[in-house]
Amino acid sequence: MSLADRVRHPDFLQRVMSADEAAALIPAGANVGMSGFTGAGYPKAVPMALARRIEALHAQGQPFKIGLWTGASTAPELDGALAKVGGIEMRMPYQSDPACRQRINAGQMQYMDIHLSHMAQFVWFGFLGKLDVAVVEVAGVLPDGRLIPSSSVGNNKTWLDQADKIILEVNDLQNPGLEGMHDIYYGTDRPPHRKPIPMTAPDERIGEPYLRCDLSKVIAVVHTSQSDRNSTFAAPDAVSEQIAGHIIEFMQQEVKLGRLPANLLPLQSGVGNIANAVLAGLNQGPFENLTAYTEVLQDGMLDMLRSGKLASASATALSLSPAALEDFTRNIDFYRQRIVLRPQEISNHPELVRRLGVIAMNAMIEADIYGNVNSTHIMGTSIMNGIGGSGDFARNGYLSFFMTPSVAKGGAISCIVPMASHVDHTEHDVQVIVTEQGLADLRGLSPTQRAELIIDKCAHPDFRPALRDYLERARHSGGGQHTPHLLPEALSWHQRFVETGTMRG
Ligand code: COA
Repeated sequence: MSLADRVRHPDFLQRVMSADEAAALIPAGANVGMSGFTGAGYPKAVPMALARRIEALHAQGQPFKIGLWTGASTAPELDGALAKVGGIEMRMPYQSDPACRQRINAGQMQYMDIHLSHMAQFVWFGFLGKLDVAVVEVAGVLPDGRLIPSSSVGNNKTWLDQADKIILEVNDLQNPGLEGMHDIYYGTDRPPHRKPIPMTAPDERIGEPYLRCDLSKVIAVVHTSQSDRNSTFAAPDAVSEQIAGHIIEFMQQEVKLGRLPANLLPLQSGVGNIANAVLAGLNQGPFENLTAYTEVLQDGMLDMLRSGKLASASATALSLSPAALEDFTRNIDFYRQRIVLRPQEISNHPELVRRLGVIAMNAMIEADIYGNVNSTHIMGTSIMNGIGGSGDFARNGYLSFFMTPSVAKGGAISCIVPMASHVDHTEHDVQVIVTEQGLADLRGLSPTQRAELIIDKCAHPDFRPALRDYLERARHSGGGQHTPHLLPEALSWHQRFVETGTMRG
């Protein structure tokens, strides 16, 4: 397709320029809202050009950094390129890039890790300062100037609305068949003018398929032809399959007890291989006519849509392996009837997650014996990725699962610890903890009842005696008995790992 086929408004065509020319229009110190969510729909040329410009300026001794806001994680061409040249002052709201992670953990880059549903509204509220420039990838421009979104929606509606200036990347490799898959809701407002969001089913469309864009703010249109990140997923390993098995058995039991309908409730599935294994398990499992209300559609959900197990899926982004992308491209008409891509403020909205009764399933780094969950920090100090949307779903969902292998680093680390070294999801937001060892249903239990169950069901047998011993001694320590702890020892397992490379005593 030629650019004129993609950009069907003449005034947009008059603003076509190179990525270098467009990047030159971004001033130092600007807050830049870029598209992109879990490696999909991010701009691919302007960030690289901006990184080259920053590198050249730094070589001349000139400081240049931007504030970088996105939907969620992006790719090496965006987060990686800008982090490597030291071009990011403040990053929000989620990243998973090795170069970003290294800079953040070295104290060379600021990072504010916030709930994905908060990002857009924090910008309208003015909490984060002015958004200067939006850099948004699109699949095309309509004759009336509205934009066809690409493989993610993320915060693009907000960036286009709030930024003073807009740079568009029109990507030839984004499937034209994406047109019609999106549902952009323009009914959000600031309190006290908010109205209920009119959605009562996960596949309901409440908005329009296109993004609105004020032409007078468009300063550049850049033509690209580059695919999304499209990372591959490992085939589920034995540990992930055991975790999936425990969850499916639990769900069957909940259906039997009348606490879940036969086709369950809308599923939310987090990122990564365990999440994919759970979906693969559900694809082989006993449930039919399932639905999904989630933020990212990975390969597993595509498989379930194809098999018919999943009737429909709502998300804000696609995050597909190359093989899944090929299938998606070939069968886009099939998928368009079953997939709705929404702004992340809607895909992750607490009001909707609560109303629809979403079943939240997210991975974690560690949990403590009382059910507090750490999803983001290694040894309490180094960021891994960020909280992403897990908090949006865990706190507001009908049921909230957190999953992890019981041990990490070849068994040197217990993922069940006396006290979590950082807490993202408090005991109040965690209903079920699952490891390959088993599943702990924490509903209706006090902290000490939870501790006994988590140790028995979820901890690795090698670490169970030490955890039981900790709990027992804490109970007899003379301290408070509601959540017994030995404060000088509570984080000693982490300290031991830092000092010796193992939590084993
Ligand atoms: N202590 C220290 N390190 C640990 C650990 C622990 N308890 N548990 C795991 N790790 C390490 C692993 O060894 C691995 O390290 P490596 O990269 O050096 O090999 C790394 O953490 C990732 O672990 P892995 O088992 O590969 O997990 P994953 O890829 O499934 O990711 C999370 C797990 C928690 C990091 C990831 O799911 C995440 O970022 N979650 C938060 C955001 C979220 O939930 N998003 C979805 C919301 S919709």
